Amino acid sequence: MLSILNNMELPPRPTLFDFNGVAMTKYFTDNWENIQNVKARPDDIIIAAYPKAGNTWMSYILDLLYFSDMSPERQDSVPLYERVPFLEIQIPGFPSGVDELNKSTTFPRIIKTHLQVQFIPKSFWEQNSKIIYVARNAKDTVVSYFHFDRMNMAQPEPGDWNSFLQRFMEGKMVFGSWYEHVKGWWEKKQTSSNIFYLFFEDLIEDTEREISRLCSFLGLSATAELTKQVTEKVLFDNMKHNRMVNGCTDEVLDFSVSHFMRKGKVGDWKNHFTVQQNEQFDEDYEKKMKNTDLQFRTIL
Ligand code: A3P
Repeated sequence: MLSILNNMELPPRPTLFDFNGVAMTKYFTDNWENIQNVKARPDDIIIAAYPKAGNTWMSYILDLLYFSDMSPERQDSVPLYERVPFLEIQIPGFPSGVDELNKSTTFPRIIKTHLQVQFIPKSFWEQNSKIIYVARNAKDTVVSYFHFDRMNMAQPEPGDWNSFLQRFMEGKMVFGSWYEHVKGWWEKKQTSSNIFYLFFEDLIEDTEREISRLCSFLGLSATAELTKQVTEKVLFDNMKHNRMVNGCTDEVLDFSVSHFMRKGKVGDWKNHFTVQQNEQFDEDYEKKMKNTDLQFRTIL
């Protein structure tokens, strides 16, 4: 998009504001009524995640599981963000997520969201749509988010690393507090059998195993061959070189600053956190996560 936007006036980066207790930008709240009134289908599959937890990875896995042999051209010519509508997005000059969803002709529809659990449109609960929640440890998430905000002109100014880290701890990020996000979905999962909660770190550790677990949840009888093929296609390096999934066609991303498929590792936080930042983060983390049994791995 930068190439197009460079010829036009680049809109200023949006600012954060409080939206029903969650920090948001206008690009994810302007279409609120239409988002809340979306009509779900029982076969819809939602991928929910805090930003940078691996939503794109999961989107591609599901797209391949359902549609890889349906239409090979789709894989070569339709960017992933068009195949998997981003429910709440509305950036002027581009089709909104809701418009893309209403245009979708696939069965099932695979839908991406970063919304906190309390904001999911009620129709998805009424229809008992399946939801896959992807969670990633806080330290790698904040590092990934920092680099993403540096390159994404539709996100607020990230500032320097230290101030970004402080704001992350305060929940002053787009889509709000990581802590509330992962805990809110975790609690909801305890009483909703239609939610599958999985971890970025587990996907890194054994992608094929996690894809098989996912297939069981979805009731998909993927052959061992298909599972292997999908596992191969979604390897970090293969996705990084695939123009339909690596973000290079997304017009708000500036690849001269950073890459969307940046590192794809567990533990990159060690290259960013100082000893002091790490101690402060751990102390704060313990307080915020003391009332949950949700556990993350920050190294493998
Ligand atoms: P890094 O910035 O740490 O590299 P999202 O899609 O939710 O925005 O998440 C993006 C993060 O997931 C990025 O993390 C990206 O590199 C990582 N990612 C995407 N696909 C991946 C894959 N196939 N293997 C490992 N990491 C992947």
